[in-house]
Amino acid sequence: MAFASVVLKRTLSHSAVMSSAIKQVTIIGSGLMGAGIAQVAAQTGHNVTMVDIDGAAVEKAQKRIGASIQRVAKKKFKEDESAAETFIKEAMERLTTSTNAAESVTSADLVVEAIVENLDVKKKLFGELDKVAPEHTIFASNTSSLAISSIAEATNRKDRFGGLHFFNPVPVMKLLEVVRIPETSQATYEAMCAWGKAMGKATVECKDTPGFIVNRLLVPYLFEAIRMLERGDASARDIDTAMKLGAGYPMGPFELADYVGLDTASFIVNGWAKGDPENPLFGSSPIVEQKVAEGKLGVKSGEGFYVYNKSK
Ligand code: 3HC
Repeated sequence: MAFASVVLKRTLSHSAVMSSAIKQVTIIGSGLMGAGIAQVAAQTGHNVTMVDIDGAAVEKAQKRIGASIQRVAKKKFKEDESAAETFIKEAMERLTTSTNAAESVTSADLVVEAIVENLDVKKKLFGELDKVAPEHTIFASNTSSLAISSIAEATNRKDRFGGLHFFNPVPVMKLLEVVRIPETSQATYEAMCAWGKAMGKATVECKDTPGFIVNRLLVPYLFEAIRMLERGDASARDIDTAMKLGAGYPMGPFELADYVGLDTASFIVNGWAKGDPENPLFGSSPIVEQKVAEGKLGVKSGEGFYVYNKSK
């Protein structure tokens, strides 16, 4: 009898949040992606807590968000300065920060993790949060290279677990990949899609396969361009020009590889290669590995395939 009432209570509290919108969001990680997700969530009316164990990283993220939201407001409100100011003020008021992940999830409807791409670290985090987050809270990872199922293993809420994969720059890119694992409930999937739409994103449904949709096509394309350079078939600059002017891409593959980060690109293919070493599309590149070893990671480090103005 007691067991039945606990089950009923859990089912009710679970379905209660599913039928009401996600309002309170915790974003774990204040890097490029975490900060971007937190910013867009705050801009679209959600109460957001952005968490990072590193207080300095949180401060840096707040500065980045401040600069980015100015650009968004300028575009959205054009000459209406007072409307732009109100938009920025209200969004920033909805955004709080914390260095304590466990404390930050106690009233969250949704937790989105965007921390380092390390399975053990992610599992440890979610395992700990699973013990303290409310029953109804949905957990999601923004991982670009790890299996969502492997991360969800650490929790007892696989039915309320999924992937929410955003694209950089988050305030600009309109897509959100919503990833289901076999255990993800229909209610969870629908709540994640509804939240994506409330964030102003178009959603696509993805299975938990390497790279989901976009990276599975994009990353092999980037490495194919790099192999073209390695063979001496064309220069990086010409390949970029060709793909921008001949295929209408906003950035050429070398600009995009630098923008994504060469360490990230290398990490993604190397991770996939572990699971499927024979797949020729999952090969890395000597040039990329060398640049990563030298700390030439792309835009974020000031140099990758191109050299950037570090003060930018
Ligand atoms: N925040 C807010 N607004 C921004 C912004 C940011 N960080 N970056 C650009 N914008 C907006 C601004 O409104 C800006 O206008 P402004 O200069 O007047 O403020 C407008 O976009 C145009 O930006 P720019 O003039 O700086 O440059 P572009 O016109 O070249 O656009 C770009 C920049 C949007 C990044 C475009 O080049 C692009 O779409 N590139 C491709 C990006 C891409 O493919 N991303 C996906 C990467 S893969 C990924 O993220 C997955 C991961 O798992 C690896």
